[in-house]
Amino acid sequence: MNHDLLVTSTVKFVQEKLAGAESGHDWWHISRVWNNAKLIAQTEDVNLTIVELAALLHDIADSKFNNGDEEIGPQTASNFLNEIGADDQITEQVALIIRHMSFKASFDKQQYFSKELAVVQDADRLDAIGAIGIARAFTYGGYKGREMYNPNIQPDLNMTKKAYKNSTAPTINHFYEKLLLLKDKMNTTTGKQLAQKRHDFMELYLQEFYNEWEGTL
Ligand code: ADP
Ligand code: NI
Repeated sequence: MNHDLLVTSTVKFVQEKLAGAESGHDWWHISRVWNNAKLIAQTEDVNLTIVELAALLHDIADSKFNNGDEEIGPQTASNFLNEIGADDQITEQVALIIRHMSFKASFDKQQYFSKELAVVQDADRLDAIGAIGIARAFTYGGYKGREMYNPNIQPDLNMTKKAYKNSTAPTINHFYEKLLLLKDKMNTTTGKQLAQKRHDFMELYLQEFYNEWEGTL
């Protein structure tokens, strides 16, 4: 099946499947990651079909909302791609990317890597930082009923995978535990450039946040 047809069918599938999803992982997150991925791919030597399909399907079934089942995402993506007649080689690579892309997976010794994974992972990480990243963090924190900030609760920089998942810490701590670390984890040149800009904006935001918190001018 050709590239355009694969992409169009996948867009339709993802839009239907994510209708009503929580706003940090809704169709608009996918749409932003897809755009980021296409932008980054322009300066990388990658298979664009694999990049676009993986970007579109990367959050198709998030383990956070499926009792921690890490296999449901790659499985849902493979089933769908098989059904629409994608080449086996494409389906396999897309499933591998989805399986190895999560921040949680980055705590594990990374067993799989590809240029396409590098692009999609950067595209997803970009959506977790900058102005959008800030909005998503507070949305997610609110959804989990967390405080936005508590000066008595320090960030935990040595969090294990399990502790991270069950963390009840205020949302500001998430900046130090994850968001401010992402710029140094970027894989691609374009990804690094875009991440630096978004990182600087978050630093500025935090300064302003503390100023307002303290009531200083
Ligand atoms: P992604 O879908 O980008 O792989 P996650 O599923 O880990 O990322 O998180 C989705 C969004 O929720 C991200 O913007 C992330 O920063 C935010 N988020 C995840 N965990 C927390 C947390 N403990 N506190 C605040 N925001 C969080
Ligand atoms: Ni995502």
